[in-house]
Amino acid sequence: MRVRVIVFVAVFVAAASSAPAQPTLPRVHLVATGGTISNRDGGRLTAEDLAKSMPGLDRAATLTYEQFANVASSQITLEQWLQLARRVNELFANDRDLSGIVVTSGTDTLEETAFFLHLTIHDPRPVVVVGSMRNPSTLGYEGAANLLEGVRVAASPAARGKGALVVLNDEVNSARDVTKTDALRLQTFRSPTHGVLGIVDRDRVVFFREILQRHTAKSEFDVARLTALPRVDVVMVYQGATGDVIKALVDLGAKGLVIAGAGAGATSGTQNEGLDYAAEKGVFIVTATRTGAGRIAPPQRPQAGAGGQGQGAPNGPATTPAQQRRRAFSISAEDHIPVKARILLMLALAMTSNRDEIQRIFSEY
Ligand code: DGL
Repeated sequence: MRVRVIVFVAVFVAAASSAPAQPTLPRVHLVATGGTISNRDGGRLTAEDLAKSMPGLDRAATLTYEQFANVASSQITLEQWLQLARRVNELFANDRDLSGIVVTSGTDTLEETAFFLHLTIHDPRPVVVVGSMRNPSTLGYEGAANLLEGVRVAASPAARGKGALVVLNDEVNSARDVTKTDALRLQTFRSPTHGVLGIVDRDRVVFFREILQRHTAKSEFDVARLTALPRVDVVMVYQGATGDVIKALVDLGAKGLVIAGAGAGATSGTQNEGLDYAAEKGVFIVTATRTGAGRIAPPQRPQAGAGGQGQGAPNGPATTPAQQRRRAFSISAEDHIPVKARILLMLALAMTSNRDEIQRIFSEY
C-alpha cells in the first residue's frame, strides 16, 4: 500500500521585513519502505515519524515525505521494485527543483533495492537509500542519524551524477558495489573491492571517487511500461551440489540463472548436466563468484584455445555441440555479486534475448 500524501515538515517562520534574507534550503523527499529503521516495538514508525525524528533537519533541508510500504526488506516484491522505480522517476520528473530523494529500507536486502534504483532511475539527482542496524526501541538506535546523513547527501550538489547511493554509519557507498557484510555490526555495509565513494562529515559530504559504469541518467532500462520481470534464480556452487535443482528451476520457468560459482566460476557434482539442460532449453546462464569479490571475465569465443579455471568455468574450450550450445547461452557477471547479477539479468532479459547484447550489458553496467 502506498500513501501518496506528501507532507511538508519544515517549519517556516515568516521573516520580518527587516530580517536578513535566509538562504533557501534544498528540498529533499523521503520515501519510506520499512525495515529495522522503522521497526519499533509496539508499532512501526511511519514516514512522518521518521521525518520528525531528526534533530537539526531544519538546517539541512526542507523535507517532504510519503509512505510507500512498511515491511522488512526481504518482503519487498519485484512488483514493488517496479512501482518504486516508477514513483521515484515520477517524483523527479514532476519536481525540477527537488534536490534529491531518500528511500528508507531494511538492511537485509537493501543492496538489491538500491541497485535496482541505480539501474532504473533516469535522473542525475541523488537517490539515497538509508537504513539502520538497530531498531528504534534499542539503546543506540542509529536510524535518525543515518537518515539525517542520507538527507544531507540527497541535498548535496556533489552527489549528483553518482547513481543510487547507500548511506549508513557516516559512509557513502555506491549501490553498484555495496553489500551487507555482517549480520549485526553497524559497520556492515562495505564495497569489498572498490571501497567507499565518500563520507558524511560534520562540515560536509566528501566524495573520493565515482562509478564509471553506466547508471541512472545513462541507463537504457526503462521500467515505465514494464509490468513484470522475467524469473531469474541464483544457484550456489558447493561440493557435491547436484544439477537436478538446476533442471527443476528450468522446468519451473526460470528464464535465466546466475551461478554463484566457486572461485572464478567452477561448478561441482552434476551441476554441469543441469547447466547443459538449461542451455538446451534456451535459459541464459550468468557466472558470478560466490567469493564476494572479484571479476569473472567474459567467455572466450567458441574454438578459442584450451585452458579454463576448473570444471564448468566459463572460459574452458567449447568443442562438443553441447559445450558450444552452453557457450551460446553463457555470460560472465563481470564483478557483480550473484544477487546483483540477478537484477541485471532480469532487466537485460526484459529487453533482449541476444547473448552478446546481454554480455555487453554486463560489461557496461
Ligand atoms: N532486518 C530488517 C530488514 O532487512 C527486518 C526488520 C523489519 O523491518 O521487520 O528489513
